[in-house]
Amino acid sequence: MKKLAVLSGAGVSAESGIRTFRDSDGLWENYNVRDVADIDGWYRNKALMLKFYNERRRQIEKCEPNAAHRIIAELEQHFDVTVVTQNIDNLHERAGSTKVIHLHGEITKVRPEDREDSGIRDIGYRDINLGDTDGRGVQLRPHIVWFGEAVPMFEPAARVVSEADILLIIGTSMVVYPAAGLFRYARPGIPIYLIDPKPISLDYGNFYQIQDKATVGMEKLRKMLVEFES
Ligand code: OAD
Repeated sequence: MKKLAVLSGAGVSAESGIRTFRDSDGLWENYNVRDVADIDGWYRNKALMLKFYNERRRQIEKCEPNAAHRIIAELEQHFDVTVVTQNIDNLHERAGSTKVIHLHGEITKVRPEDREDSGIRDIGYRDINLGDTDGRGVQLRPHIVWFGEAVPMFEPAARVVSEADILLIIGTSMVVYPAAGLFRYARPGIPIYLIDPKPISLDYGNFYQIQDKATVGMEKLRKMLVEFES
């Protein structure tokens, strides 16, 4: 089976009702993205950050995976698929994808604020509040990568891209690094497909954009991939 790596961003979940970041002028559900996505924001106002992510968690509980998530999961019948997502939602998993790397963390997980990669646990869709601590009395925070923090899952993600036979990029503005540079780890010459309603050009030879929304673009790409690449 050929290896298909999928790099997804907020656009793949847009049709499930989750707003993207940059289509709304940097305002996200009426918050300034930098206030609620930056480690400085955490130290300035933990209560605001917790409230913001509690709201996002409740919203994600109500959202359903869309046809794009489902087609990506179904492609596992034809390809060895690994999804590397910048999204903190769990819609790829809920659609049935079995190998998902979350580059920017997961909203349904928490960890103590003094640790980067241990003490992580699943809380489902429950709120976290000021005063919720681990066994040592250390405040819990969302297990999410904020601006100004390291991206511990970058290396595994780069390995997945470097081993891929086909790369699909879907629903990301490709402006946030290091995620935006991941495609450069692809072996020279492999096909890179990109699905996004906005034109995006990549400095790469064998590149093909399907300029459509995720659901429509994935339907088209499924046919192309299964017919010509599997
Ligand atoms: P952006 O909001 O920057 O980009 C969303 C992309 O999705 C844009 O290119 C849109 O054109 C496209 N789009 C919109 N609707 C779509 C649809 N229905 N189908 C397909 N594409 C659609 O989101 P990301 O690139 O994911 O980081 O943002 C990257 C990171 O910035 C996020 O992971 C987050 C944010 O700060 C952290 O939280 C650390």
